[in-house]
Amino acid sequence: MTTTLLRGRLLSFRRAPLSLADSESYIYETDGGLLIEDGIIAAVGAYDDIKAKAPEDASEIDHRPHLIMPGLIDTHLHFPQMQVIASYAANLLEWLNTYTFPEECRFVESAHAQRIATHFYDELIRHGTTTAVAYCSVHKTSADAYFAEALRRNMRMVGGKVMMDRNAPQGLLDTPQMGYDETRQVIADWHGKGRNHVAITPRFAITSTPAQMEATAALAREFPDLHIQTHLSENHDEIKFTCELYPEATDYTDIYARYGLLGPKSLFGHAIHLSEREADAMSETGAIAVHCPTSNLFLGSGLFPLKALSRREKPVRIGVATDIGGGSSYSMLRTMDEAYKIQQLLGERLNPLDSYYYMTLGNAEALSLADKIGTLELGTDADLVVLNAAATPAMALKMEVVKTLPEELFLLQTMGDDRAVAETYVAGVAMKNGL
Ligand code: GUN
Ligand code: ZN
Repeated sequence: MTTTLLRGRLLSFRRAPLSLADSESYIYETDGGLLIEDGIIAAVGAYDDIKAKAPEDASEIDHRPHLIMPGLIDTHLHFPQMQVIASYAANLLEWLNTYTFPEECRFVESAHAQRIATHFYDELIRHGTTTAVAYCSVHKTSADAYFAEALRRNMRMVGGKVMMDRNAPQGLLDTPQMGYDETRQVIADWHGKGRNHVAITPRFAITSTPAQMEATAALAREFPDLHIQTHLSENHDEIKFTCELYPEATDYTDIYARYGLLGPKSLFGHAIHLSEREADAMSETGAIAVHCPTSNLFLGSGLFPLKALSRREKPVRIGVATDIGGGSSYSMLRTMDEAYKIQQLLGERLNPLDSYYYMTLGNAEALSLADKIGTLELGTDADLVVLNAAATPAMALKMEVVKTLPEELFLLQTMGDDRAVAETYVAGVAMKNGL
């Protein structure tokens, strides 16, 4: 058995914070100890107590004065879009057609997919992200590369082979039968292997015919425990085109509802421009709206009403994500900085406790995985991030006047990026300097 004892300031959420003053919503241990046995959190508390319990041969790593938190979680990004980032386009549909679809065609080559998979996981680790939910490309080769690399690094990852059978280049199209068969094959090959989770992944209604949506519905019925991910209500032109393609549906959300795709394991990327009816339908089924702030700003898609959706009488469950490569940073810290600014523009406040809750326990709850990730609870996976709020000269200077934990968290969110990630642990193994 490998046993590791970490020392540092520990921070973990118990539940969503009600306000910035809600110190009951989290556990903060100023001189904390965290004991890891075979990749699982075996003891957690005050350092002196944990040290007394630890076996003598435990290897000890002192991260003081840094913060040790649950690893960050990214609930929506695109593995084949690492070389799409920073593509200059007027809007979503132009960006997809001009840059994104041609780039994804390259993932038919497994050598290319494997090369990008290595970089993909390197970037996640560098940015302190230990679990992510990704779209692969339409090609099974891309899903194979994605899950093989996750297995090699023993990371808890969710992902899916994209299903798309129209309105894209020939090299990116499957058929209803192929999408169904290959998704089944990806599930058989990878779901439950290591810490892998396969998600049913119709790209969005524009690129799936009604026949393919039927095939997706069949998969959702056959595999009710799997996550489902797709895109919803991101851009006004997209919404208009989608509703023209499905004239019988009441609205965009209703298209997915008609195929049985709304439920507590369904992740809808963006969901910016929902009507009250659509928000009600999301709320009633427990579906999740995944906020992708850097992408929404970069593509000019709109301002996601995070606070308004979460305080409704029928609240909508929310996740947060980078949406690489529509998004512009792999960092969940940068992501929450932009989320904060979007709420500012809407006249709302997103406090730093909210932000760190969303990046950890909130996203774990959005994935129905809070029993495994997103906290420092006993018996959960030892996926951790170690954050240094004085990582750059400018941050260190500001830290001289920081007095409270929320102030420190806000500084990290406002100025931090991968430089603030001192270490990333995956199932108890320090990964920032490679496997
Ligand atoms: N809608 C359908 N596909 C995509 C994609 O790859 N990125 C974004 N941002 N929106 C989409
Ligand atoms: Zn996306």
